Amino acid sequence: MFARNSVIALATFDMEIIIQPTAEAATTRAARVIARLLREKPNAVLGLATGSTPLLLYRELIRMKLDWRKVTTFNLDEYVGLAPTHPQSYHSFMRENLFQHIKISMRNVHIPDGMAKNIPASCENYERKITAAGGIDLQVLGIGTDGHIGFNEPTSSLASRTRIKTLTQQTRRDNARFFGSEADVPHHCITMGIGTIMEARQNLLLAFGPKKARAVAEAVEGPITSINPASMLQMHPATKVCLDKDAASQLQRADYYRWVYDNKPGWQQI
Ligand code: PGA
Repeated sequence: MFARNSVIALATFDMEIIIQPTAEAATTRAARVIARLLREKPNAVLGLATGSTPLLLYRELIRMKLDWRKVTTFNLDEYVGLAPTHPQSYHSFMRENLFQHIKISMRNVHIPDGMAKNIPASCENYERKITAAGGIDLQVLGIGTDGHIGFNEPTSSLASRTRIKTLTQQTRRDNARFFGSEADVPHHCITMGIGTIMEARQNLLLAFGPKKARAVAEAVEGPITSINPASMLQMHPATKVCLDKDAASQLQRADYYRWVYDNKPGWQQI
């Protein structure tokens, strides 16, 4: 019997699809899950994501004035070749959008090293650090228009660990907006693997806007396939998918998901 209203109650064994009218409303639901975790486990280990999607989430978490003093974080990925001070590095992104606004110990903050001389060794070390921290309690995820989570591009091994990965042209095109031109987007990254993400005790995937609708529908309702790496989350025991109505627009069972969420027993609600 799982303790109700406790972090142990995470073993739900079904993907939970939360569809809200707006990105703001979907983000509020996601922020509440994180706030509850940090209240129940002040030394929680959070997996964090970058990109446009989690920006609202970080703003909301900052506004909530949570206690971050004992929290440990691991970011999903980083571009190879970008120093932590590079404006488009994910080190810079995290500093600007979250870490400089909260009281977190930077000793507890981990982001893959895009400048590592020995990339395989630094990837192995990253995995060891996650294990030494006790594993990730909750991993925040966005989804690429190609279905990637982290930078696990289509055809990534569904058992993959932290490693170097080559970005697809679509991802480089999608991310060119941060760099000014597609030519400036690095070709390689270091990313946690699908296997790494699958070991997080809970995953919280957010997706907003019509451009994500196809990748979301394939991930939630399609076959489990490395062509859409996010589809592997169907095998994860505690994944919440927080969507705005546009990102949910290609789901065939949207009415069912809405009904389930609106009629949850009180103790299950967030
Ligand atoms: P985005 O990227 O949030 O910038 O859309 C999501 C992702 O690539 O995971």
